[in-house]
Amino acid sequence: MNFDKKYLKKTWNENLEQADLIAEYFYDILFHEFEGTEELFNNTEIHFQKMEFQKAITNIINNLDDPDKVETYLKESGIRHICYGIVPKYYKTVESALFKTFEQVFKDCWSQKMKEQWQLFINFILETMKKGALEIRPDLSE
Ligand code: HEM
Repeated sequence: MNFDKKYLKKTWNENLEQADLIAEYFYDILFHEFEGTEELFNNTEIHFQKMEFQKAITNIINNLDDPDKVETYLKESGIRHICYGIVPKYYKTVESALFKTFEQVFKDCWSQKMKEQWQLFINFILETMKKGALEIRPDLSE
């Protein structure tokens, strides 16, 4: 974890009202800006999915003091995502959509430091999920 955990938690908790909107923004950005991603959720109840996504991000942030737990959680999530048809190329797409999400949600306090730290955090989430997936399915490698 090469980011400032305390800083991330602090900025998240200081902006909880905006942070609660992450999932709303995320799927809008993903579906509008990244062609072909909406189809991945054709069989998904999107309202429920948004709640699950919001819970997942909150859970990761709240558990940053326990890196092993977070890493295991993310790797297992990466493995589950194989079952949803998610191959590694999608992780880059989502990285970009998630960065834009944080940028828009935290727009009033989006400083250079915020940008750097949240980028590192997003990168950590997606790389760890991908690592989990590739450990059991190395054949999915890009
Ligand atoms: C920031 C990283 C991600 C997080 C936190 C996340 C979170 C979640 C959560 C909590 C679920 C509910 C089911 C479960 O926990 O297994 C889920 C399902 C799903 N995610 Fe993700 N995900 C991430 C990355 C991705 C990526 C890269 C894609 C590809 C575009 C994706 C597509 C899906 C799909 C298709 C489902 C299945 C929905 C269903 O049940 O029908 N996710 N995700």
